[in-house]
Amino acid sequence: MFPNMISRNLKVWILTALMTVSVSSYAQDKPNAENGKKLYEANNCGSCHALDKKVVGPALRGVHTRRSEEWLVQWVRNNEKFRKVTKDPDAIALYNEYGGAAMNIFENLTPANVLDIVEYIKTAPEAKKAVAVVATDSQAKDDNTTLYILLLLVAIFSAILLVLARVKNTLKRVAAEKDPEELAAMNAPKKGFFEKVLPGKWGKKNPVVLTLFAVAIFGGYAAYQGFQFSITEVGVQKGYAPKQPIAFSHQLHAGQLKVDCKYCHSTVEESKQASIPALNTCMNCHKGVQLTDKYNGEISPEIKKIYAALDYNPEAKPGEEYGPNPRPIKWVRIHNLPDHAYFNHAQHVKVGKQNCQTCHGAIEKMEVVQQHSSLQMGWCIDCHRNAQVDVASNNYYKALHEKAAKDIATNKSKSKYFAADGKVKLTPAMNGGLECSKCHY
Ligand code: HEC
Ligand code: HEC
Ligand code: HEC
Ligand code: HEC
Ligand code: HEC
Ligand code: HEC
Repeated sequence: MFPNMISRNLKVWILTALMTVSVSSYAQDKPNAENGKKLYEANNCGSCHALDKKVVGPALRGVHTRRSEEWLVQWVRNNEKFRKVTKDPDAIALYNEYGGAAMNIFENLTPANVLDIVEYIKTAPEAKKAVAVVATDSQAKDDNTTLYILLLLVAIFSAILLVLARVKNTLKRVAAEKDPEELAAMNAPKKGFFEKVLPGKWGKKNPVVLTLFAVAIFGGYAAYQGFQFSITEVGVQKGYAPKQPIAFSHQLHAGQLKVDCKYCHSTVEESKQASIPALNTCMNCHKGVQLTDKYNGEISPEIKKIYAALDYNPEAKPGEEYGPNPRPIKWVRIHNLPDHAYFNHAQHVKVGKQNCQTCHGAIEKMEVVQQHSSLQMGWCIDCHRNAQVDVASNNYYKALHEKAAKDIATNKSKSKYFAADGKVKLTPAMNGGLECSKCHY
């Protein structure tokens, strides 16, 4: 116990001693909130923190009441060393609380710098409630518009053609009325359609039989083409990676910055849809992260697109940044099942405990999202036949688990639930996952 404490204190001491001379001077110099604000922005603290809201890391307002100055200096400058070398219990507990989401190391900041930042956090005014701007995801809504417009055009053209044909006939009739010979010709029995187009005796065959024959040939051909289309074209979607209106990168946000998928796709555990985040979610970070360093003092053109869409003016007075004319960003939809198929995220992610990556591939490595799986029926069925649902540790399957345990007790290895490893065997297929009605409306 004692040697342990001594060695820990020794380490703290060495660490503190290693800090620059300013360590001793920070107590004297009055911390400067203005400088702290600049440092906070320049180091992108705001990409993971907000003052009054938990983002990737904790809300920072009042942090000086939770932690000592020494603690804050060590944490901000090198939280990893603080945890691993100093083994500070509070630092370790905090890290675990945030599920091991690592904060960056900021050894570029001197201890005095950190105290400036703390001063800024201490004195920053409470933000006025930002005007709620609803940036709805407009995806699904206008998917079919083009089709409807096309159908409408076809209908209009057909109507015009019909009217024109009638007008022409009437004109002809009016003209013919003046000439008895032509009137006679018009009233004479007409040659059938087939007599006109087919040669010789073929044209004299029963028109009903001929019509049925033609329909059978054309219909068969069309059905064959349709079938070919459905088995090839649907699969072509695999690898589909359209350019998006804002160059948003999963590789950067989900990969490097380690932002949780659910932070943005927030409904994925509760509902059918995974949902695309509203731009307000981006603003939790991009109010602060403007990448001005990268663009010679200008705001990144891609971030400007977010601001433009929200009608947000970063230079306006606090409380007046949001203008009256927000408009939604139209992300191009990538994954899209046909309307007759039913897929539900909550059933798979929450109940079935499937990883996003099993179906979507390594999204966190994709600069541009692309469709990883075919999404064809065979793909769903394959997994439903083979996936093992972990019933034992999953509350959703309590009743089923009990039933299976009873079945195994009576039928031993003949039970359909019997698995050699002693666990209960259950595939989605055994739970009705191959029934047409589960996936089709
Ligand atoms: C990449 C994301 C990220 C960035 C950038 C970041 N932090 Fe953090 N910060 C975190 C996380 C996550 C935690 C929670 C602990 C953990 O998981 O490591 C945290 C914890 C903290 C804490 C402790 C809060 C408490 O309640 O005790 C302070 C203070 C802090 N950060 C300050 C800063 C400052 C100042 C900056 C900028 C110089 C900064 N952070 C930049 C992610 C970040
Ligand atoms: C910072 C927010 C954010 C995070 C974190 C995030 N996404 Fe996304 N995701 C988006 C946005 C915005 C889009 C729409 C633009 C695009 O396709 O790039 C999107 C699109 C997608 C799509 C394609 C949707 C479609 O149109 O079919 C999938 C799949 C996806 N994300 C999965 C994931 C997974 C898996 C993770 C975690 C590894 C993740 N996302 C993390 C914001 C995020
Ligand atoms: C958790 C914080 C966070 C969230 C949420 C977030 N971003 Fe970012 N984003 C960052 C950081 C940090 C960078 C800068 C990384 C760097 O230094 O290059 C960045 C960079 C970007 C860039 C690159 C800009 C450029 O010019 O290089 C784009 C575009 C972007 N984000 C769009 C978005 C969109 C759209 C959303 C919402 C769907 C979003 N971000 C949500 C933190 C975030
Ligand atoms: C079992 C396979 C599977 C898993 C697991 C899965 N998805 Fe999906 N995802 C799909 C399918 C299929 C679609 C297309 C749904 C449609 O068109 O109705 C889709 C569509 C999406 C979309 C587009 C928007 C939407 O809701 O249709 C996003 C975003 C998305 N998934 C994110 C995620 C995230 C994040 C996870 C993990 C938390 C995840 N998915 C887990 C199969 C899966
Ligand atoms: C990676 C494996 C996997 C893929 C791919 C997959 N599923 Fe599933 N599915 C599961 C699991 C696991 C469950 C939950 C098991 C259960 O409760 O029966 C499930 C459950 C379901 C259910 C609920 C069944 C019930 O008994 O209530 C439906 C409906 C469903 N899936 C449809 C689909 C559709 C449609 C697709 C293809 C677009 C698909 N799944 C692709 C693994 C998968
Ligand atoms: C696990 C989910 C699932 C089950 C069970 C399922 N289907 Fe499907 N089915 C799909 C999906 C997803 C599609 C759309 C993708 C595609 O076209 O392959 C589809 C497409 C189809 C199509 C359109 C054909 C095509 O190639 O476009 C037909 C017809 C069909 N299913 C019939 C059935 C019948 C009949 C059953 C029951 C024996 C059944 N399905 C069971 C998921 C399922």
